Amino acid sequence: LHHNAVLAMPWSLCLLWASCVLAVPLSNPKPKLLLISFDGFRWNYDQDVDTPNLDQMAQDGVKAQYVTPPYISITSPAHFTLLTGRYVENHGVIHNMWFNTTSGMKKPYYQTQHVNEWWDNGTVPIWITAQRQGLKAGSVHFPGTASSYQGEVAMKQEVEPPHYNYKNETAWQENSDKVMSWFRDEDLDFVSLYFGEPDVTGHKYGPDSPQRRETVKQVDRAVGYIRHSAERHGLTDRLNIIITADHGMSTVLRKGQVEEIILSKIPGFSFKDLSFHLVDYGPSGMLLPKPGKLEKVYNALKGAHPHLHVYKKEEMPERLHFSKNDRILPIVLFADLGYLINGYFPVQINKGEHGFDNQEMDMKPFFRAVGPAFQKNLEVGPFETVNIYPLMCHILGIQPEVNDGHLNATRHLLVTSQTRSGELT
Ligand SMILES: *[C@@H]1O[C@H](CO)[C@@H](O)[C@H](O)[C@H]1NC(C)=O
Ligand SMILES: *[C@@H]1O[C@H](CO)[C@@H](O)[C@H](O)[C@H]1NC(C)=O
Ligand SMILES: *[C@@H]1O[C@H](CO)[C@@H](O)[C@H](O)[C@H]1NC(C)=O
Ligand SMILES: *[C@@H]1O[C@H](CO)[C@@H](O)[C@H](O)[C@H]1NC(C)=O
Ligand SMILES: [Zn+2]
Repeated sequence: LHHNAVLAMPWSLCLLWASCVLAVPLSNPKPKLLLISFDGFRWNYDQDVDTPNLDQMAQDGVKAQYVTPPYISITSPAHFTLLTGRYVENHGVIHNMWFNTTSGMKKPYYQTQHVNEWWDNGTVPIWITAQRQGLKAGSVHFPGTASSYQGEVAMKQEVEPPHYNYKNETAWQENSDKVMSWFRDEDLDFVSLYFGEPDVTGHKYGPDSPQRRETVKQVDRAVGYIRHSAERHGLTDRLNIIITADHGMSTVLRKGQVEEIILSKIPGFSFKDLSFHLVDYGPSGMLLPKPGKLEKVYNALKGAHPHLHVYKKEEMPERLHFSKNDRILPIVLFADLGYLINGYFPVQINKGEHGFDNQEMDMKPFFRAVGPAFQKNLEVGPFETVNIYPLMCHILGIQPEVNDGHLNATRHLLVTSQTRSGELT
């Protein structure tokens, strides 16, 4: 008996110890993650507007000086990079518009959301990866939400109706509350939430306009609302929130200020030499010359305007990662800041545009993050948005798909603690 009692003690201690150690990860609430995009929110939009809620979020979490979007810096390609961690040439969503070079047909942004083959081109977004690994994922209005991927969709999906009013603040609040109830009542682990502003206002009035500043105030109120809603839903201790964007915005200069780029006026260039083209879409363009006309078209355009960059697709600077994809047409054009690419004559009326070289500071989006996974009151240097995907997978404790980012670039944003997978960060 004496012997037994002596032996029993360490054993029970041991069991107690073991159950404590095992209980640690279980007693930590499993991390949830909300990825929010405010379309076209340039990195420095908070510098000429009072943004108390964004400032509070930076104090409570992490702020990056800016982030670098992929090229081409437009909505669908850049959002799909956020969801996949892949550069545009690798994920295949190379434009906002689906097109068929044989029939000449093009579908605008909204219609293209519903072209499944455009999105499902070999790379699966984080919703699908998360679900395949036992998590629950949802998405509200995020580009790519309408499509299925290898036959699978996000388990909660909301796609905006056509002609949607992207600026309706009441709808913003309703959507924020809806997402919080998905997290709380349906135990979703990951949700992506998209807001179409300040992009729409930035295009219409320009990034330096009072209208843009007002819209940034609306975004700031929304950020306050979202964080408060998370609190009301009892999610503060387990919900991580990343807020970023697809690209920035730059002021368009007009005739009189600059010599506009109008392709039809360029000596030696003729639209008759093309079998298909995508121009009159901001500062970028792609051309498919007719058989045997590639050199003629290229030579006519190359050097024709000091602010027009002309590349054969295989000559595209490697840093842009916009070359190695069959969907990219043989000639790629892009303009310097301030300039647009016009076809026959100028038809574009926007005062702000994006789609420029992703090295341009005007193209850089903002980045904020808050929650139990993140450091507090930390400002970090810039990183590429391809690195947000491995960061998100790490927080969720899922194995990422092949991607172009690396956790090395974003690991310093995180607190050193145990993740769901039990791995030390
Ligand atoms: C493109 O258009 C051509 C000609 O109309 C048609 O034969 C082809 O099937 C179309 N391709 C796609 C992917 O829609
Ligand atoms: C991607 O799309 C292209 C057509 O645009 C098609 O030829 C190719 O097979 C697709 N790849 C995958 C993996 O879906
Ligand atoms: C804004 O959204 C709310 C809630 O969805 C809706 O009831 C209202 O009609 C909308 N207002 C406008 C101007 O679109
Ligand atoms: C990530 O960082 C580790 C440690 O500093 C280093 O050994 C590794 O090569 C890095 N990986 C990449 C892809 O940068
Ligand atoms: Zn836009």
